Amino acid sequence: MPETPNPTPAHVAIIMDGNGRWAKQRGLPRIEGHRRGVETVRSIIDAAKELGIRYLTLYAFSVENWKRPQDEVGALMSLLEYFLKRETATLVKNQVRLLAIGRTQDLPEFVRRQLEAAIAATAHFTGHTLVLALNYGSRTEVIDAARAYAAAVAAGKISPDDSSWETFSRHLYTADLPDPDLVIRTSGEYRVSNFLLLQAAYSEFVFTPVAWPDFTKADLVAAIAAYSKRERRYGQTSEQLKTVTTD
Ligand code: FPP
Repeated sequence: MPETPNPTPAHVAIIMDGNGRWAKQRGLPRIEGHRRGVETVRSIIDAAKELGIRYLTLYAFSVENWKRPQDEVGALMSLLEYFLKRETATLVKNQVRLLAIGRTQDLPEFVRRQLEAAIAATAHFTGHTLVLALNYGSRTEVIDAARAYAAAVAAGKISPDDSSWETFSRHLYTADLPDPDLVIRTSGEYRVSNFLLLQAAYSEFVFTPVAWPDFTKADLVAAIAAYSKRERRYGQTSEQLKTVTTD
């Protein structure tokens, strides 16, 4: 337990899991779970803003998700397009900037078009940022970053002697984002599933049994309350953190 509770996390990242099981338990097709999941996305974007969370990252589609049945992949892409089309006006009204991380260039053209339009329409907002992880995977992110880094070295823009986390991490998709303070995974699974593996090096994790379609603002508040009680040590000892330096 920290001496004083941690302040509201600046960056919350969420692995939105359990749509399929939610639907199955109700005798509904999986896509109905994803449809309800989109409604949760809308309410949690609002809730995060109300709670003063400046960055919210949502794992919407992983590089591995292409392996799902074709009709489910197609339905997820259509839902994304629908969400982007419908939500852009609300993001603008609420002054939320939209960003995307992942190999977005490989998304279908009809999704990319909406995504680019939404990003452009919200690019000037600075207070709150929604990040969608789309066709995202940490391992492909590292490959892409290593490639960009090697190109910068070859072009003489970076000396290999200057290699440091600071110079390398500027080539990740998240170059302009702070690391997540809190990572939440819904639906009772205890995995990180190739999500922000490097950025979450010092994040706190909260796992909740609640399926994503049932996740509410109250569940987000509960996750933040758990986070506020964690002692973030970043490799130091508890005693070191309690030592107040006076010089
Ligand atoms: C995991 O549930 C969820 C996904 C793979 C997709 C998440 C997508 C959405 C919430 C909708 C689209 C997103 C946006 C931002 C509009 P699962 O299907 O793996 O659930 P299961 O483990 O119970 O099968």
